[in-house]
Amino acid sequence: MAYTVPKLKDFSPEALDKAAAALLSALEKESSSLGDDGQRKAFRDRWLARKDGILTQINDLWLKPAPKDAKREVGQRVNNLKAKIEQKVEAALKSAPAEKIDSSIDISLPGIQRPIGAEHPIIRTMNEIISVFRNLGYSVAEGPVIETDYYNFESLNFPPNHPARDTQDTLFLANQESKPARERLLLRTHTSPVQIRTMEKLKPPLRILIPGKVHRNDPPDASHSPMFHQVEGLAVDTNITFGDLKGTLDHATKALFGSDVKTSFRPSFFPFTEPSAEMFVSCFICGGSGKRGNDDVPCRPCKQTGWIEILGCGMVDPNVFEFVKHNGYDPEKVSGFAFGMGADRIAMLKYGLDDLQLFFQGDVRFLEQFG
Ligand code: PHE
Repeated sequence: MAYTVPKLKDFSPEALDKAAAALLSALEKESSSLGDDGQRKAFRDRWLARKDGILTQINDLWLKPAPKDAKREVGQRVNNLKAKIEQKVEAALKSAPAEKIDSSIDISLPGIQRPIGAEHPIIRTMNEIISVFRNLGYSVAEGPVIETDYYNFESLNFPPNHPARDTQDTLFLANQESKPARERLLLRTHTSPVQIRTMEKLKPPLRILIPGKVHRNDPPDASHSPMFHQVEGLAVDTNITFGDLKGTLDHATKALFGSDVKTSFRPSFFPFTEPSAEMFVSCFICGGSGKRGNDDVPCRPCKQTGWIEILGCGMVDPNVFEFVKHNGYDPEKVSGFAFGMGADRIAMLKYGLDDLQLFFQGDVRFLEQFG
């Protein structure tokens, strides 16, 4: 039981001496078991705190209620006692052992190191692409990965049942039969829906880059994955031409792969661009010869053609502008170009990998090489 200051009935010198002795022996006992800083502070407060410390209590319980004729005597003894308590408490605080050090811990050993991790090579590649375009005045826009049929297809000029939809088969969310077709949700198959979403919000002129995750019904293999990444671009202004598209993409490709590479544009088809093209970059592995080294080893990345396809592009189809005409995109007044590239493919080429799946397996031995 911890010591508490008793009330006194007897204020005689003998009774006071007895009470004082009990108090001092309690103080002695508590002084001998002082440990850490918290205990010391509690000990100090218990004895000396102005508000309700033992020092104050003896004043209130012993001196104040003392009968008039005993006051002088009691006062002297209480004062002596107070001085003793103060002195003993201070001494105890000084002499108590410093906080104990656990000798089983060797503080000279290095601490536990938490690996800080590294940027994933795909994210790093996307950021590199973004920074090339940022220098050309592009900003970044993003949109949802779960998208409506309207944004993913219809507003990009893929009418319902159009065969071009088959090239971008994906997962639709279940139990949506009661919704109108254009409101049904799916995993977006490309980043192009963010073109429309951004044009609905921002008036022309516009220059944006759209990085993001996309999904398609492709079984995983060395060059396919049901989930992959794209970086899309869109520029809209008055008098934008196919020459602007070529100049911009040629510059960006050289910034990404080195100034020796060449670009080549070949006609293609996308419902939301007209005309459309695929852009190829001259193979920077074999230098465009299709063969590697002196042994004439066939070059794999370019399949011995000397060219690697890296993106789809084209002039924004006027039918697309019709969907956002109300926000200043009158196809009679503005024109623009768009492009979309596979960030995973570009990362593979940049890091010389031959298996796309490495990116998604989460193997630390692979990932830490990009630290
Ligand atoms: N969205 C197209 C795809 O995923 C790429 C593309 C984007 C083509 C922009 C032209 C313009 O295949």
